[in-house]
Amino acid sequence: MQHQRVLVLDFGGQYNQLIARRVRDLKVYCDLKPCDMSVEEIKAYDPIGIIFTGGPNSVYDERSPHIDPAVLSLGIPVLGICYGCQLIAYTLGGKVEHAAMSEYGKREFSFVKDSPLSAGIPQTSICWMSHTDHVTAVPDGFDVLASTPTCPVTVYGSARKRIYGVQFHPEVVHSEYGNKLLENFLYGVCGAQGDWTMGNFVAEQVTRLKEKLGGKKVLCAMSGGVDSAVAATLVHRAVGDDLICVFVDHGLLRKGESEEVMSVFKDKLGMNLIRADAGERFLSKLAGVSDPEQKRKIIGAEFIKVFEAEAKKIGAVDFLVQGTIYPDVIESGKDKSAVIKSHHNVGGLPSVVDFKEIVEPLRDLFKDEVRRVGTELGLPERVVQRQPFPGPGLAIRIMGEVTREKLETLRDADYIFREEIAKAGLVGKIWQYFAVITNSKTVGVQGDFRTYENVIALRAVTSVDAMTADWARIPYDVLEKVSNRITNEVPHANRIVYDITSKPPATIEWE
Ligand code: XMP
Repeated sequence: MQHQRVLVLDFGGQYNQLIARRVRDLKVYCDLKPCDMSVEEIKAYDPIGIIFTGGPNSVYDERSPHIDPAVLSLGIPVLGICYGCQLIAYTLGGKVEHAAMSEYGKREFSFVKDSPLSAGIPQTSICWMSHTDHVTAVPDGFDVLASTPTCPVTVYGSARKRIYGVQFHPEVVHSEYGNKLLENFLYGVCGAQGDWTMGNFVAEQVTRLKEKLGGKKVLCAMSGGVDSAVAATLVHRAVGDDLICVFVDHGLLRKGESEEVMSVFKDKLGMNLIRADAGERFLSKLAGVSDPEQKRKIIGAEFIKVFEAEAKKIGAVDFLVQGTIYPDVIESGKDKSAVIKSHHNVGGLPSVVDFKEIVEPLRDLFKDEVRRVGTELGLPERVVQRQPFPGPGLAIRIMGEVTREKLETLRDADYIFREEIAKAGLVGKIWQYFAVITNSKTVGVQGDFRTYENVIALRAVTSVDAMTADWARIPYDVLEKVSNRITNEVPHANRIVYDITSKPPATIEWE
């Protein structure tokens, strides 16, 4: 079944993925596409509405992206946001000017004329601005719909043409009624029906996957991470035992994780899941290696060898399932999963598996949608809400050489940190939180004895996409509890430090 679709044309702004997520949260399917999509391509895509995103340019910059004016006479509703708003005005003969001062942050704006966009929104409310240029005269046939004291045309539009522009960013949470405005555009202007729900998605995918894969042999590499877990579960729902999952346990997972993968996917869901228990093999390959890049290379290569050995036992398969998700596909314009995931997680897998085709059932979904699909499929919340975890696992959270003793110390310390974060109700509020075993030992005193043991670092960050991150302001009493518990309960740890560096200049992982 073809869902109603909205086209979000990407003019390079920083919130573009957020716009697409908001539209989807409002139960309307949308795709984020480059802004140079041609009129023919747009027609073929057949959207119920188009959104022009913001962008860093001024319409007067020589190299700023423009649009074919024909896009605005297709009869398809259009909403321009920030740069998109200026671009529509400029293209249709309105006036755009550099404001005397850039405007950033919260502003109060007021509607001056009713329109479908303003339904259910108070006349005056807070919006979030981030611009220098602004529209000073609307094109013929358009009305000014809202303004602020410094931005005369905050919202404008034409009910007849069904084209609107908003100078602020309705997609960010600081715009009080931003979501309502987007909803008004989708439902009040574009005639959306709200047919994009994760329940529908699961039902449709299961039918589609059954048709495509039924009776064929399907293989999936499971890492224990959310994406591959949800992809495998979805395919399992469709084809049952025709799916074989291989879980390469490199012995570098967190405490309890390997057992959890087996108990959830094999015992509870009844998947045909093979665990390749390769912990010893990885440890011996890593012996004496301290360089982080070297560790990554060894783990990547070994992972492939172990997987290959399992795949050989299984023999030729028809399909290989991969947990590629939508941001992997759009961020670089081509399949970024090939870069990130293949490097670090299941790199080079396709070349060692004898298969006919790759299936990527989550290719259209944002991460939060993947999690919702997981819940829809009955996966436990601890699996579905799992924080990002690097493919090479704890090896990059152990500074210096990876040894069995360090692994055990780190696992126990990390487990305590995770437990206390959960007890403090902080799980959903922090992007990632984990322990690191540093390559330093310091003197301590425990009981009446002098100790010389490891320094454990705690790392916790807030982030939206892991590209930048800030250190999480965890309450001191939570940190205190973690520190007390680790030094009391975990052997070989006598000092705890908290990492207060943002990214950049640091990274999230220590490596
Ligand atoms: P850094 O340390 O570069 O990490 O700030 C950014 C994000 O990427 C995660 N990460 C990985 N994820 N395979 C992955 O799937 C990897 O090899 C890998 N290395 C780092 C890291 O945990 C953080 O979320």
